[in-house]
Amino acid sequence: MTQEPMKNYVHYLDVFERNGFEKRKKMRRKPKSSTGQTTDHLAESTDHADLVLKMTYRPARFEAEWLTDYMSGFYNEMQITDVLRNVKGGKEATVYCCRAHPNTGYELLAAKVYRPRKLRNLRNDALYREGRVTLDDAGKGIVRGRRPKVAMQKHTRFGQELRHTSWLGHEYGTMQLLYEAGVAVPKPLTSSDNVILMEYLGEEGEAAPPLHAVRLERDEAQVLFERLMRDVELMLACGRIHADLSAFNVLYWDGAVKIIDFPQAVDPFVNPRAFDLLARDVTRLCEYFARYRIDAHGPSLAREMWERCIPTPELD
Ligand SMILES: Nc1ncnc2c1ncn2[C@@H]1O[C@H](COP(=O)(O)OP(=O)(O)OP(=O)(O)O)[C@@H](O)[C@H]1O
Ligand SMILES: [Mg+2]
Repeated sequence: MTQEPMKNYVHYLDVFERNGFEKRKKMRRKPKSSTGQTTDHLAESTDHADLVLKMTYRPARFEAEWLTDYMSGFYNEMQITDVLRNVKGGKEATVYCCRAHPNTGYELLAAKVYRPRKLRNLRNDALYREGRVTLDDAGKGIVRGRRPKVAMQKHTRFGQELRHTSWLGHEYGTMQLLYEAGVAVPKPLTSSDNVILMEYLGEEGEAAPPLHAVRLERDEAQVLFERLMRDVELMLACGRIHADLSAFNVLYWDGAVKIIDFPQAVDPFVNPRAFDLLARDVTRLCEYFARYRIDAHGPSLAREMWERCIPTPELD
């Protein structure tokens, strides 16, 4: 290994560890006798006396510990003022509905909080990681070099932290790229080591349902199908395949659809199984829309998109 990548890696770990430590220090508090006290104390610890993170949501005790820890940064940075409720817990992350700080221009925001490592089931990610560079938590730097890669492959504690941070950074970076390209995804606002803060879809008491739970009119279904196919192709043109796309990862609100959940997205130019993943995504959407008598063959549509977007090398 050359010196340079190792230097970057060590710097990255320094920052990662230091951030965690400083956050813990900021959050140090008196022994607590109830969940209420845990979250109420957060209000006292802020430098912004006019702001209070209310935490209307009453988390379970173990959840309160890391939730306040992870959310306090957004509160101090005046992105959110309250955590209102738990929208849904998935395999690795839980999504919370938050009251946005007026500075953001939003009323509500969604916080996708990756749970602490010991509570998460890391997915079998080899398929998605293949041929992919490994991003840091901001999606900017790149964790390079043999040692971190070996640590990640061998599931050492260090390796698992890196894998987790890399998933989140990759998801956030992908959302930014796609949002800017005009793909229908929630606008990503900011991220930290464990959280992605994004536009919330729905209302305070009712989050946008996933497409699979919605009953559409036939005409509307046709419009949404075309919009989604356009977006899958736009993603491909941006160098991204969702790789876990289905009616479960498309939210429906106000007659429009938005695609969510990008940690496993792959790059079609480097992942050797990219076409199969694209065909699977398109096929799953076609299967959902078949109930509205939309007759489309997933693999053929995927093939056409691939031919339009991925240039084949010229032969001499
Ligand atoms: N921006 C958002 N606005 C409103 N609700 C959201 C938003 N993002 C996610 N959700 C809700 O949170 C759920 C989980 O989000 P997501 O799919 O990104 O996480 P996940 O951990 O991968 O979950 P799963 O394992 O269920 O796929 C979604 O199914 C949806 O109900
Ligand atoms: Mg999901």
